[in-house]
Amino acid sequence: MKNLTTLKELDLEEITHLLDRAEAFKQGEKKSYANCVFANLFFEPSTRTQNSFIMAQKKLGIQDINLNPEASSIKKGETLYDTVKTFEAIGVSGVVIRASEVRYYEELVGKLNIPVLNGGDGAGDHPTQSLLDLMTIREEFGRLEGLKVLILGDIRFSRVAKTNIEVMRRLGMEVFICAPEPLKDPAYDYIDCNEAFAKVDVAMLLRVQHERHEHRMNMTQEEYLTSYGLNKTRYAEMQEHAIIMHPAPFNRGWEIDGDLVESPKSRIFKQMENGVYVRMAVIERALDHA
Ligand code: NCD
Repeated sequence: MKNLTTLKELDLEEITHLLDRAEAFKQGEKKSYANCVFANLFFEPSTRTQNSFIMAQKKLGIQDINLNPEASSIKKGETLYDTVKTFEAIGVSGVVIRASEVRYYEELVGKLNIPVLNGGDGAGDHPTQSLLDLMTIREEFGRLEGLKVLILGDIRFSRVAKTNIEVMRRLGMEVFICAPEPLKDPAYDYIDCNEAFAKVDVAMLLRVQHERHEHRMNMTQEEYLTSYGLNKTRYAEMQEHAIIMHPAPFNRGWEIDGDLVESPKSRIFKQMENGVYVRMAVIERALDHA
């Protein structure tokens, strides 16, 4: 059973293969899984991840069921395990899950006969987001090894940052991390944001995840943008070939000046486009090795 719960379980060869398959789908390769149905169970809000999984399923000829947690038996106290077993019983071929509990999938794997694809577990992992980030970077530079990446912002609560830092370092990329004091995760070393922009190939901004903070940050929007975000001065300092990325949704004016979202260096919408092909590759891996 080829679950995709965290990228830590995949070796570099498997990761490269997934990126190659995503690229092949982007180049027009077709594949069809008639009679397959996937269930998308999103217990946290999502626009890009959920809908690009749905788009990937449609492109692969797979039917989709999308659970509305508000109108489901979760409201009556049904557990995640019992909910997923229900979808297995009614005949789905796989489930995509996003939930706020870190490593929620541990109560599922080994007990199911269908694959689980992780669409994000709290502040834990976000494997398909990292894959689409890697695909976008590889498309831009033709390689991953040796590239310098800056990841800055809400490191503490970001599953995107955590997944990327681990996999990028394993791939031989040089990762610099920068965050305001309350948003640091003590697991990492940090650099000064002011020195960072001029030396990197990729600047990856993160959303300030206000909804995961116990207290609102003691900083105004302007202060945050100037100290820990991408403003026009820092944009001008970046190298000619350097690019900007953001998993989105973005808070315009917090981590990024709103005018820079669609600037020439921005690959933010390219990331979203690539998300569909990466998710096709992940579904293919899950179904072909069922
Ligand atoms: C991210 C997420 O949900 O982890 N968004 C995404 O999946 N594209 C980042 C975020 O919410 O800030």
